[in-house]
Amino acid sequence: MYAAILAGGVGSRLWPRSRQTRPKQFTDITGSGRTMIQETARRLEGLVDPDRIYVITGSQYARLAAEQLPQIPSDQIIVEPNGRNTGPAIGLACVVLQRRDPDATLAVLPADHVITQPERFRQALAVAGQAAAAGYLVTLGIEPTFPHTGYGYIKAGKPLDLDHGPVYQVELFTEKPNRSAAEAFLAEGGYYWNGGIFVGQVRTFLEEFARQLPQVYERLLQIQACLDRDGSQEERQQAIAEIWAEMPSISMDYGVMEGAQRVAVVPMQAGWSDVGSWDALEAVLEQDESSNYVAKGEILTIDSCDNIVYSDKTMVALIGVHELVVVDAGDTLLIGHKSQMQRVKEIVETLRAQG
Ligand code: GDD
Ligand code: MG
Repeated sequence: MYAAILAGGVGSRLWPRSRQTRPKQFTDITGSGRTMIQETARRLEGLVDPDRIYVITGSQYARLAAEQLPQIPSDQIIVEPNGRNTGPAIGLACVVLQRRDPDATLAVLPADHVITQPERFRQALAVAGQAAAAGYLVTLGIEPTFPHTGYGYIKAGKPLDLDHGPVYQVELFTEKPNRSAAEAFLAEGGYYWNGGIFVGQVRTFLEEFARQLPQVYERLLQIQACLDRDGSQEERQQAIAEIWAEMPSISMDYGVMEGAQRVAVVPMQAGWSDVGSWDALEAVLEQDESSNYVAKGEILTIDSCDNIVYSDKTMVALIGVHELVVVDAGDTLLIGHKSQMQRVKEIVETLRAQG
């Protein structure tokens, strides 16, 4: 099995730790001592060798990726001239990998998830690899706990007959439903959240691109022709940038998964969490003895609980406050209520508008 780590997102809801110059996947958000992309690569140990791991990222992040993952051969850090969302990014990984191994099975992994039980993750991924060999595009499904509207929802159907399992056929894939649809899915039961991890044969991915996103596929073929062409590396890069400029922007979920023909889901219970915003840290950190969550730094508290603290400074003191998020990123301090953390994006937008 090969792996491609998607690392092109900006992660604006984790500002001020996640910055345009160093998005969350290149930082240590949870206080593990490793950045999120390093954790992602490490999680594959024993299942996918570093020389079979690719990283797909924007040109501004290529150096960070190479520095943080020295074990990955530098020519396997694939650079997009600019972000066209996950559909084209995955397509690009497929055309690059297809030249090396036309029969490859590829696992596509976001660089910004936390998985607290990596052994279970590897088991699920290995099962997904089997279903992929049978021609399925496979997702890892997470048991939903509330009607989150930022995830894809997967309706599991009949079980597939494989040696290991369980694996189910997917009846319906609905990306980011509205609140009432998400509530209805939970009430009906039998649905999983899409974990954002996709496994399939490169051939299967490309067939779906050809069938559902011909405009993307056509450009992928042009890029493939460029890669095969003689000439300098610079000339090839230039030609690819010109093709990429015309590449439509679309996510894998809307563009491919919702309409794909053979989709399967492997349920995974591995402590998965999409740490999309600061409040999500609650799910991945243990409460300390004062009943607060500390990702980094030390705290001293009086009558304060359920706060989330991330501090580049040594000490944060809290008195009589609850459910706050306190993030000290050196030159910038964020203080807000836990329930308002989706709105960090608004701060980033305001700052951007101010230039
Ligand atoms: N290389 C590259 N290029 N990577 C990208 C790009 C891009 O243009 N855009 C996003 N990414 C990376 C992000 O860094 C992240 O690791 C991953 O692709 C997923 O993108 P998100 O933007 O975070 O997607 P999402 O959270 O809205 O939704 C996806 O993940 C959910 C689970 O976390 C979907 O797959 C949902 O269905 C799923 O439930
Ligand atoms: Mg995400």
